[in-house]
Amino acid sequence: MNRELEKRNAARAALNFVEDGMTIGLGTGSTARHFIELLAEEIKEGLIIRAVPTSEETRDLAIEHHISLIDIEQVQQIHLTVDGADEANEVGDLIKGGGGALLREKLIANASDHMVVIADPSKYVSTLGAFPLPVEVIPFGFTLTAKKIFDVLEQNGIARPKVELRQDEGEEGPFITDGGHYILDCHCSKIPDAPKLASQLCAVPGVVEHGLFISMARTLIIGGEDGATIFEF
Ligand code: A5P
Repeated sequence: MNRELEKRNAARAALNFVEDGMTIGLGTGSTARHFIELLAEEIKEGLIIRAVPTSEETRDLAIEHHISLIDIEQVQQIHLTVDGADEANEVGDLIKGGGGALLREKLIANASDHMVVIADPSKYVSTLGAFPLPVEVIPFGFTLTAKKIFDVLEQNGIARPKVELRQDEGEEGPFITDGGHYILDCHCSKIPDAPKLASQLCAVPGVVEHGLFISMARTLIIGGEDGATIFEF
C-alpha cells in the first residue's frame, strides 16, 4: 500500500468540490498538504479562490504556494473546508487534532457551508477511539482539568482511560497550540457514544475544545491507490 498516493488521490477528488470564486478553509496535516499543493496547481491554471488557513503551519504553506488568504475577521462566508482526520466512522463523525490544530479547524469547519474530509483508508474505523482523543485546555490548572476529564471518560464507559499532557517533539516542555493552550491526549481505546462524550467534555471548566467533530463532515473521501470512494452524510 502507498499511503501518500492514497492521501493524494483523496485530495485530488476533493478538487471536484471547488468552484471559482469560493472562499475555502484549508485544513492542517499531511493529507491537507496534498490538497493545498493540488489547489495551488489549479490556481496556476487560472482558478480564482480565497483561503482561510486552520493553523499557522497551513498559513505558511499557503503563502509558500502563492494562495491568496483572507483575514478570518473579514470573512463573510466560507463555502467549503477541506481537511484531514485522525479517524472517521461510517456516519462521518471524526477524531481530529493529532496535529494540534483542532480549535481553529473546528471553528472554521463549523462556519463553513460544506466540510469535506479527506483521508487514507487507515483512518476509516467502525468505532472511534483507538486514536488518542486530543482535548485542548488552558494551561492554568490543567492537572485539575485532566482529573475531571478522566472522570468524564470513566462515566462514559471508557475503562482505564489515560490522560496525557502532550509534549513538544522539538523542544523540552508541553506542546503549545496556536491559541497558546495545552493538549491532553486521552487514550480511550473505544468511545462507546461519541456525541454524548463530546457534549460532556464541553462542560468541563478549563476545556477549550475537543477533537470530536460530530455531524460536521458532509462528505468523506477515502483515497485508494486507483482513485477514491466518496461518502455523503
Ligand atoms: C490536525 O490538527 C489534525 O486534525 C489533522 O487534520 C489530522 O491529524 C490528520 O492529519 P494527517 O492528514 O497528517 O493524518
